[in-house]
Amino acid sequence: MLDLDADVLHEFHREMVTWVGSLTPDRPRIVDLGAGTGAGALALARHLPHAEVVAVDVSADMLQQLRHRAHATGAVDRIRTVQADLDQTWPRLGPADLVWASGSLHHLADPARSLTQAFAILRPGGAVLITEFDSFPRFLPDPAGTALEERCHTALADLRAEAGLHMSEDWGAHLREAGFTVEAERRFDIALRAPLPDAAGRYAQVCLQRMRHGLEGCLRANDLAALDALAAGAPSRDDLIVRTTRTVWVARRPETGCPGEHAAPARTS
Ligand SMILES: C[S@@+](CC[C@H](N)C(=O)[O-])C[C@H]1O[C@@H](n2cnc3c(N)ncnc32)[C@H](O)[C@@H]1O
Repeated sequence: MLDLDADVLHEFHREMVTWVGSLTPDRPRIVDLGAGTGAGALALARHLPHAEVVAVDVSADMLQQLRHRAHATGAVDRIRTVQADLDQTWPRLGPADLVWASGSLHHLADPARSLTQAFAILRPGGAVLITEFDSFPRFLPDPAGTALEERCHTALADLRAEAGLHMSEDWGAHLREAGFTVEAERRFDIALRAPLPDAAGRYAQVCLQRMRHGLEGCLRANDLAALDALAAGAPSRDDLIVRTTRTVWVARRPETGCPGEHAAPARTS
């Protein structure tokens, strides 16, 4: 799903990596927190040919896929993976010119502590770019489909709140509390209509299946059956719309101040 997201929303992702290029020195050292399968790390390494990227994730499987893709794209020499649980003591990740956290901070147990640690690994003057979203994208164009998606998103929001995910955090406030100077907060309301990228139908299918899987027992049987049918038919539809929002915060560690980094050795590969 992460790879399809990067494929279908490639214009948004391109804008983000271009933004990073304007925030960093010529040979930046970038730390990607919660790198997943590498959508961000690989795009950053491609767009910034002199960048070194440290991709951190708790999932060994995700990092293995990331390394595999890095080999295929020829960027392997400039991407290092670190398996670490960012809810625990962080391994030594810095010093960094940029911390990139796309769709990952809401998974962490203590947002304020995570940003204090991100501050500590940045060089003075270094930047952090956070991207967060509120839910899965929406795809269905008709009123019945839109209403069904709405019921799904409402139920998912309840489940995420119960699970303790930080979906609606004020990251600007957390950044300021951690000592950062917030330079930008931008909301992107994305609505893609036909002709969509080739991967859009498959993206819709995977997202609908993921929602269906997560909502077992939370929706009426007829809604679950409708989701099954919509997911099965999504790749062959030509009327889908991809609607999603992303909010991006950019902040800097001021040039003065030195909290210092206290860290254990990293497990790298
Ligand atoms: C929604 S994915 C985003 C992946 C990637 N940044 C992207 O944009 O495609 C969230 C990622 O955070 C990682 N993650 C969740 N909790 C974590 C933790 N405690 N420590 C490190 N990584 C974590 C997950 O394994 C997953 O790869």
